[in-house]
Amino acid sequence: MYRDLQHELDTFERRTPKSEEAHKKNLKRIPLGVASNYRAYDPYPIFVKDGQGSHFRDLDGNDYLDHNLCFGALMAGHCHPAVMKAVSGRLSTGTMFGMPHDMEWQLAEEICQRFPVEMVRFGNSGTEATMHACRLARAATGRDKILKFEGAYHGLHDTALVSVKPHAPDFGDVNNPVSVSGGLGVPRASLANVPVATFNDLLTVERRFEENPGQIAAIILEPILMNVGMCMPQPGFLQGLRDIATRNGALLIYDEVKTGAKLGWAGASEYFGVAPDMVCLAKSIGGGLPLAAFGTHRSVMDLISQHKVFHGGTYNTNPVSMAAGLATFREVLTRENYAHVDKLSKKLVAGYRKTVAKTGLQAYVAEAGANGVLMLYPKEIRNYRDWTTIDVDLWRHYWFGMVNRGVMAQPYWWDEQWTISVQHTEADIDRHLAAFDDLAPALAKAQQQRTAAVAVH
Ligand SMILES: Cc1ncc(COP(=O)(O)O)c(C=O)c1O
Repeated sequence: MYRDLQHELDTFERRTPKSEEAHKKNLKRIPLGVASNYRAYDPYPIFVKDGQGSHFRDLDGNDYLDHNLCFGALMAGHCHPAVMKAVSGRLSTGTMFGMPHDMEWQLAEEICQRFPVEMVRFGNSGTEATMHACRLARAATGRDKILKFEGAYHGLHDTALVSVKPHAPDFGDVNNPVSVSGGLGVPRASLANVPVATFNDLLTVERRFEENPGQIAAIILEPILMNVGMCMPQPGFLQGLRDIATRNGALLIYDEVKTGAKLGWAGASEYFGVAPDMVCLAKSIGGGLPLAAFGTHRSVMDLISQHKVFHGGTYNTNPVSMAAGLATFREVLTRENYAHVDKLSKKLVAGYRKTVAKTGLQAYVAEAGANGVLMLYPKEIRNYRDWTTIDVDLWRHYWFGMVNRGVMAQPYWWDEQWTISVQHTEADIDRHLAAFDDLAPALAKAQQQRTAAVAVH
């Protein structure tokens, strides 16, 4: 480990002793000491105490500007007043009944007005939304296979846990990527049922359809690959997928768990001008409460109405989450708030780009809607494999360096990105940029030294 990174890690450990202690306790009873593998990192994760608006505090009382925002699930920011009002009103009138109520059609209406879907069903997590969408697509086409992209994350069900972060010895040729298990316990049948293609490469998609004639029910994708920082769809890619799906009688599923609320008022269909057949939503539509939805054409949803496809869930449409969702759609995800976030995003991106240029750091900034990310690559990445070439220590230097300066610039892991909430302010962005400006010269220097060292060897 190089000296400047070690220095940031030492500082981190000095600032966060209570997190270290809490993590040790958790480790006794909870694998990795965390409730989701994504929350585990070395030397130990920051343990949170509380949050408000665009900030949170850790157990040691350190204050952070929060661009992690629960892995991008909080475009509302913490404790958004409208969401809190709606939620607290529901806390004393019954939190779950397992019975229908009149907020359901209201939220369904909100979703159908924004997204190209005619009917929706609700759930509690992104995993549920993509799982039910895949099953519905299988039912609608009478086919078993779902095509996904290498490196894409769609949650934790068996269909999704294929080629999420495959390693080089396993993933084969980029023109013919192998379906690799996302961990033990994923049945071999899942691998056989999930052919994998390369993002931004329509030929690999065509190839999969040729190899599996009449067998692929759907293509599922994030319109922007957000499990690799941010990998933008190249011009024509989404339209190409639309055409291939239609030509082959397969459905096109947009996993908009991240992009749905954060790209803009109507998600990726509006942003890119290419409409899918199905949309999966979660994260930021709940304003801080667990809420998910999937929707599609009436003709496909009728399979549920006809009792041919089963969908259910004890916690579905619990009044607390639904009240939060309604407040989020009506008072958080408004055109005015998108304009506000867009303004802040432009400022943050411009500031980063200026600092990158000034310091000579080999990096670029990717951005769309409320999201952005410092990509530590010499040129724009096109797919998952490009992403794997990152210098992880340099990225850790960036992340811990920012954290030590009071800015959680994004979730831990170099496959994530920052989110700007509707509660962030110009002053927050100034603070974020000041921290990056302070850190960037050391990053650039470290990068140059590491590049020179590699050249010598
Ligand atoms: C694109 C995408 N799909 C699905 C999921 C799964 O959502 P959840 O964690 O709510 O199950 C995630 C979560 O990060 C995601 O980013």
